[in-house]
Amino acid sequence: MVDKMSNLSKNMGFNKSVSFGRRALSSGSPRVSRVGWISRWYHVFIGIGFLVSSLLVITAGYIHVLPALPLSSHHNDVSKSSYSNGSCNMYEGNWILDDSYPLYNATECPFAEKGFDCLGNGRVDQSYLKWRWKPMNCDVPKFDVQNVLEKLRSKRIVFVGDSMSRTQWESLICLLMSGVEDKRSVYEMNGNTITKRIKYLGVRFSSFNFTVEFFRSVFLVQEGPMPKHSPKRVKSALKLDVLNSISSQWIDSDVLVFNTGHWWVPGKLFEIGCYFQVGNSLKLGMSIPTAFEVALRTWASWIEENIDTNRTHVFFRTFEPSHWKDHTFKYCSVTDEPVNETRGREKSIFSDTILEVAKNMKAPINVLRITSMSAFRSDAHVGQWSDNPSVPDCSHWCLPGVPDVWNQILVSYLLTEYDSVVQRTRYNLVASALNHTRNI
Ligand SMILES: *[C@@H]1O[C@H](CO)[C@@H](O)[C@H](O)[C@H]1NC(C)=O
Ligand SMILES: *[C@@H]1O[C@H](CO)[C@@H](O)[C@H](O)[C@H]1NC(C)=O
Ligand SMILES: *[C@@H]1O[C@H](CO)[C@@H](O)[C@H](O)[C@H]1NC(C)=O
Ligand SMILES: *[C@@H]1O[C@H](CO)[C@@H](O)[C@H](O)[C@H]1NC(C)=O
Ligand SMILES: *[C@@H]1O[C@H](CO)[C@@H](O)[C@H](O)[C@H]1NC(C)=O
Ligand SMILES: *[C@@H]1O[C@H](CO)[C@@H](O)[C@H](O)[C@H]1NC(C)=O
Repeated sequence: MVDKMSNLSKNMGFNKSVSFGRRALSSGSPRVSRVGWISRWYHVFIGIGFLVSSLLVITAGYIHVLPALPLSSHHNDVSKSSYSNGSCNMYEGNWILDDSYPLYNATECPFAEKGFDCLGNGRVDQSYLKWRWKPMNCDVPKFDVQNVLEKLRSKRIVFVGDSMSRTQWESLICLLMSGVEDKRSVYEMNGNTITKRIKYLGVRFSSFNFTVEFFRSVFLVQEGPMPKHSPKRVKSALKLDVLNSISSQWIDSDVLVFNTGHWWVPGKLFEIGCYFQVGNSLKLGMSIPTAFEVALRTWASWIEENIDTNRTHVFFRTFEPSHWKDHTFKYCSVTDEPVNETRGREKSIFSDTILEVAKNMKAPINVLRITSMSAFRSDAHVGQWSDNPSVPDCSHWCLPGVPDVWNQILVSYLLTEYDSVVQRTRYNLVASALNHTRNI
């Protein structure tokens, strides 16, 4: 598997230049007494300075461009997007069998909820556990758990959204716990256990001083009582212009991962008397896609007003496709293998809206465009192997499984960012050494 950073380094000469920078530091520090030395070194330093500033430009460009890349390309457009080098789109590829998967055993992970542990719930066929996502022109970096644990030290990672976010939260914790020897050092901070309606769960990795948290906010915007004098059928309202009141708790974080989508259906809105509201007025005729867009714009303004994106990396996961037989959400049959026909599931109006809103934001948002890749995985849903076998479930995913891949991609972006911060720090050291020498 190709390590993304080192690949990039090779292509751009990063490795060479960074170690050059280090050498410059150590040979530049000794006190210089003779003028000839100074002038000779001065030339060398001008050379280094040029190199360093070129690097700064490259790095700045790279840092600036990277978060924006997923926005500027659609899933079928390989040429415009790049990941580790000019020809790779993380989201365009295939599922291939890989015997090194799965990455953990859900029965042994205390944070994989029972309902998602398909194997533990009696699923017999096991090839669904073995698929690795292979982008066409590169690889998703291998999940090097020790490295990831170190890089996340002292960080606060927050997932916000519906049960799909809870699944990804569980997956990330299980992936990380596979590298933690003392499992008791990982615990839910309030002693809570996972339930479908729980509003908050926060797991602390005490040896690494970081937390991975989940806030349930299925619409992201605020649900509330119906306005006065509403028609009789209105029982509650979704305030599209107000972000969920718990949002203040999301601000102080290093990583924010959002999702919403599965609750934007008539059965969870109009059919239970929940209608849209903007300001003080009900919008009885507003369609769900329009309301979704208004809510996302509320989210976008909230991000721009509240989040310091120099610190907090913001991700939004696109819609997670389900594989129901029809729109009654009653029947589904989980396949043994991924399908090679996505039958329209690779697209979603919600995903399109997310991309569109993110594209128009000033803040750098990384959209995790997982809709298309996940659409092939009709084999990866919970199906009848949940904690309630009488109700099939072709929305949620088995763990281990597809959410692990979402996390591998998420983590690869994070590590790229954190590594480039280290590099920026190195350049600053070199720059100040240059300053120091000039001042002698
Ligand atoms: C997962 O762990 C459980 C409990 O330790 C064990 O019974 C089961 O065989 C393991 N499954 C796999 C696939 O290793
Ligand atoms: C991009 O990376 C892949 C492996 O990840 C490599 O095979 C390919 O040659 C690289 N392309 C360029 C243009 O460097
Ligand atoms: C633990 O992390 C917090 C930030 O989340 C930081 O302020 C604190 O200094 C860290 N403690 C240690 C011992 O590293
Ligand atoms: C973020 O970093 C940039 C560049 O270092 C700086 O100009 C900007 O003021 C910073 N923003 C905040 C909110 O700190
Ligand atoms: C799907 O892929 C399999 C294996 O590559 C192949 O045998 C099969 O013909 C394909 N089906 C369709 C409909 O393309
Ligand atoms: C270099 O020196 C200049 C002027 O003294 C100062 O403004 C700048 O911040 C210094 N740069 C670094 C990296 O120390």
